[in-house]
Amino acid sequence: MKILLIFTVLFSSVLFALSQDRTPNATVRSIHLPDIRTDLKPGEGREKAESLCVICHSLDYIPMQPGFSKAQWAAIVNKMIKVFGAPINEADANLIINYLAEKYGSKE
Ligand code: HEC
Repeated sequence: MKILLIFTVLFSSVLFALSQDRTPNATVRSIHLPDIRTDLKPGEGREKAESLCVICHSLDYIPMQPGFSKAQWAAIVNKMIKVFGAPINEADANLIINYLAEKYGSKE
């Protein structure tokens, strides 16, 4: 009698599982990410900054800084390279540092 009861329970759960609709839901869902593109000020070095400084974070980091001196921008760019591993060669780094100091700097 017990066996029959267990069998009935198992059998009905199998039937229940089989009766479930397994076809994937074909509804297309999408999300809209915020547009975080930042256009940097025109100037020599802008293209390098726009392509190399966006690898890890948004370019917002540049205009949101207080007007740094050239030495401070150099320290920031060198930190990105030495500490965080930014793949920026010396020539590009110098170009970017001059650009940042000129366009986003304190002009010191
Ligand atoms: C290899 C990855 C990487 C690249 C490439 C990179 N950064 Fe960063 N940057 C970071 C990390 C990590 C932080 C600190 C974490 C955070 O605040 O999100 C940071 C933070 C900053 C900050 C905030 C201030 C600070 O010191 O934390 C500034 C400004 C900044 N980056 C500028 C730049 C500029 C300019 C470039 C291009 C020369 C650049 N980053 C390229 C990884 C990178």
